[in-house]
Amino acid sequence: MHGSRFQQLNEEKGLVPGYPVTMRNILGDNSVVAVHGISHKRIRGSLLAVSGPAATRDHHLQKIDKFTRSFLDNWAGKIIDIQLKTKKMIFLVSMNLIIENESTAFHEAFKATFDNLVLGIISLPIKIPGTSYFRALQSRKNVIAILGEVLAKRRASSTAYDDILDQLLRNEVKFSDEEIIDQIITILYSGYETVSTTSMMAVKYLRDHPKALQAMRDEHFAIQQSKKPEEQLNWDDYKNMIFTRAVILETLRLATIVHGLMRKTTTDVQLNGFTVPKDWRVLVYIREINYDPFLYEEPFNFNPWRWTEKDLESHNHNMLFGRGSRMCAGKELGIVKVSLFLHHFVTRYRLIFFFTDCMWEEVEGNKLLKFPRVEAPNGLKLRVAEY
Ligand code: HEM
Repeated sequence: MHGSRFQQLNEEKGLVPGYPVTMRNILGDNSVVAVHGISHKRIRGSLLAVSGPAATRDHHLQKIDKFTRSFLDNWAGKIIDIQLKTKKMIFLVSMNLIIENESTAFHEAFKATFDNLVLGIISLPIKIPGTSYFRALQSRKNVIAILGEVLAKRRASSTAYDDILDQLLRNEVKFSDEEIIDQIITILYSGYETVSTTSMMAVKYLRDHPKALQAMRDEHFAIQQSKKPEEQLNWDDYKNMIFTRAVILETLRLATIVHGLMRKTTTDVQLNGFTVPKDWRVLVYIREINYDPFLYEEPFNFNPWRWTEKDLESHNHNMLFGRGSRMCAGKELGIVKVSLFLHHFVTRYRLIFFFTDCMWEEVEGNKLLKFPRVEAPNGLKLRVAEY
């Protein structure tokens, strides 16, 4: 279904999220993506309060800057697997924002458990030992046990923390422990591979397009020069990263990191003169919209300038972060994470060469896969040198 038509079809008109049963069982029944109506409004409101633009500006940006800056230390002269690095960076930075008082060792151990959970979200719902789904359900049990302990400690403590867990605990309408845990799993999952893969693919596209890389460098060196050495980045700096935002949107479009939005009909729905019966599944295929030559001239070219020349971001057809009442609750947070990573990356390092000289279209060579997730099965390795 084409996006412009879809956005008029919201919950009231009979369309609710229709993601596979594996996703619902792994993210939990209380997850914002599993609930509808009043429950959705209540949970979404709280999630926007902890991860929306205001929270990102006032609480998260400085922490992301500090973390990313030190995460990128000592890369010079080494072979870096940018896929591994960006996954680790994004997971750990999210954990820092969610549970700031636990150690890095705790966050890293938790990542190993959580990675198994993620692998089962897009899998066949076969619940026998050895399957991804089975492992993911086991991991969900472990994740619940670990987060349950963290919650119990927090509830018993009188210390106030400046993190997402504290904000969820102080939510106006009280959440149960089960609800808090499901929201943490959802935030971690929704902002994990989406953000890390965007970071990885942005580096790959920049490496392949020297003119864009130069424009990025110009933008970030200008920001760096306007500040004292070691001075933290702030919201105004982020807002000045206009070309970077265009690079991120173009990366999301061309790599199509989110393939589609899934819905289920709760009643017979009229669509372009057809009746879609109750209980049918509807897929909004974002890849088709992203590569539509009427919307994006020469759609297979990486051209970040298209986003700065025309206001494509607010265009009805832009579905990169969804639209309407289900639109991404962490859009700005995600863009900040990628932007700050790119800032530190391009101002500190030069790329020497890629070890796997992979072209995006070379799917058969198995260097970069597009489906079911965008990934580099053997990693995406590069060597970097200090400026
Ligand atoms: C580049 C990064 C990201 C992309 C491309 C992305 C994309 C999307 C898309 C397309 C949707 C709509 C799903 C639908 O309509 O069914 C969505 C929803 C959502 N996203 Fe993101 N996302 C990103 C980062 C994040 C981050 C960092 C968070 C962390 C808070 C997050 C949290 C959510 C949540 C909670 C929803 C569900 C909202 C609801 O159902 O009301 N996302 N995202």
